[in-house]
Amino acid sequence: MKDIAEIRSDFPILARKVYDKPLVYLDNGATTQKPQCVIDALTSVYTTYNANIHRGVHYLSDKSSEAYENSRERVRSFINAGKKEEVIFTSGTTGSINGIAFSFGERYINPGDEMIISHLEHHANIVPWQMMCERKGAVLRVIPINDNGEIILEEYYKLLTSKTRIVSVAQASNALGTIVPVREIIDAAHAMNIPVLIDGAQSVQHGITDIQTMNCDFYVFSGHKIYGPTGIGVLYGKEKWLSELPPFQGGGDMVDKVTFEKTTYNELPFKFEAGTMNYTAAIGMCAALNYVLDIGLENIAAREQELLSYANKRLSGINGLTIYGNSDRKISTISFLLKGIHPYDTGMILDKLGIAVRTGTHCAQPVMDRYGIDGTVRASICFYNTKEEIDALTSGIEMVMSMFS
Ligand code: ALA
Repeated sequence: MKDIAEIRSDFPILARKVYDKPLVYLDNGATTQKPQCVIDALTSVYTTYNANIHRGVHYLSDKSSEAYENSRERVRSFINAGKKEEVIFTSGTTGSINGIAFSFGERYINPGDEMIISHLEHHANIVPWQMMCERKGAVLRVIPINDNGEIILEEYYKLLTSKTRIVSVAQASNALGTIVPVREIIDAAHAMNIPVLIDGAQSVQHGITDIQTMNCDFYVFSGHKIYGPTGIGVLYGKEKWLSELPPFQGGGDMVDKVTFEKTTYNELPFKFEAGTMNYTAAIGMCAALNYVLDIGLENIAAREQELLSYANKRLSGINGLTIYGNSDRKISTISFLLKGIHPYDTGMILDKLGIAVRTGTHCAQPVMDRYGIDGTVRASICFYNTKEEIDALTSGIEMVMSMFS
């Protein structure tokens, strides 16, 4: 593995100062910073071969279409999907889940049917299903979590019934960092012929993803959380589902023949890609996936777990600091509160020290309700962070506490 100085020099923004202090970027759960190779890939599209994809006979259009389709193949092999046709580009995780919730609802959901999510979900894996349930007269069921922020599997098994049509859960919680036992969830659902969507927004960047081993029916993630550009995401779906489901958007490229009487749809994956796709971002994401593969996902996971245990040790030594989410299996995310201090105040003071953390509900309000709190401060660590940065966070927190004491 490259050494940490070399890794950090790949990310130009990490060298900048904020309020004249070195930037300590610990908001990677919200979005990650971009290595120079991703920035270069975007510049290269715009300076050398930009043209709309799948539409022109000219040289530039060929070049950009080829680069876009190569990105699809890169995603396929990155997640070890069986076929390129099973990889759909979207605007991000939110776009992917909304798309499936719409199409699945239209095709398979009837009044009285049920679908299951968990109490850990991000709003993007709650609201689209609520909208589907409202539209189709279906019922949303929620797997409860325990005090450590872990899904209670026994309760999940009880929720699976002959009325359940689909299960949708995150592989890792954005708010608490809990890693969810998706294998058990998928196996139990499959034993009853129920498909499962896995939200990989907070997990795909933290270790190796193998879709075929996981055997989920749908898998979604965002480019910008895995060191790629914003505005691009992935919807993986097993071919048997994608060929049955109706498109969730109509427009150019997703059609075969259009007349005013009837339109027939394009083949997979294009059936689900209406309008001009964000091909530039897809190409940028390809560069990001190449970058993390070059570092090694197993190296990334090992480094992040080391940083997580260091941060746990440092933060749990602070009197008056409570960590929310204490599962043994976590991504490198720590959510916490300081006794008697509003998370927003903590975040504002840390910011003035150059330390970027997220505060609030993290788009996971039900998780906060579960603990009876308004929000937390969240430090989301990734492989380019250092122990020195965690020391800076620790000193920053101690300063906040002394200011409020
Ligand atoms: N979903 C992103 C986060 O957890 C924005 O911060």
